Amino acid sequence: MNLRVAVFASGGGSNFQALAENALTYSVTLVVCNRSKAGVLDRAHTLGVSTHVLSPRAFESEKLYSNVLLELLHAEKIDLIALAGYLCKIPAPVVETFWGRILNIHPALLPRFGGKGLYGHRVHKAVLEAKEAFSGATVHFVDEEYDTGPILLQKKVPVLPDDTPDSLAKRVLAVEHQIFPEALELIAEGRVRIKDRRVIINPTKTT
Ligand code: GRF
Repeated sequence: MNLRVAVFASGGGSNFQALAENALTYSVTLVVCNRSKAGVLDRAHTLGVSTHVLSPRAFESEKLYSNVLLELLHAEKIDLIALAGYLCKIPAPVVETFWGRILNIHPALLPRFGGKGLYGHRVHKAVLEAKEAFSGATVHFVDEEYDTGPILLQKKVPVLPDDTPDSLAKRVLAVEHQIFPEALELIAEGRVRIKDRRVIINPTKTT
């Protein structure tokens, strides 16, 4: 099954690039971005992926924004949404329509170091302040809250004694680039289901 994936991003887009370049059983066919100058747009143009700039703030109401987003996703026949450094909240009707088909990457080992306000360097700073021995990356399904949906994949990295938020971010980003494409492949191969908010991964392909 070749799934059509929309990547939502607000920043540089290195995760978008990892997803697009490592796609075997899915295709990244659309980038949705809320900032007209975000680096992800240049990366998408280079890789020939269509882009759409859509800022929630440009809409009179969340309902209107949500309707336009849903129309776009349907028109582009999107099967799966991958949030890769997307800093806007996904409206509830989109979460409902795409339940089980929206994934997010978070630069820490959820359920720790997640939630509203914990994004980007703030996450790594919090991990260092808590003197954790490990950090890592998490791919999880998206629900109505921040960073609370069922976890699909995680990978650890060590926290080193002289780490700064920058050095830790770099080590974590390298594993983000591995596990995000892996997570999409698992879904595209039909190996993932959610039961009672827990993720079950089938060891063999079903497609
Ligand atoms: C990544 O660390 C991701 O985990 C977080 O935002 C960052 C985005 O980086 N949600 P990039 O734009 O993919 O380079």
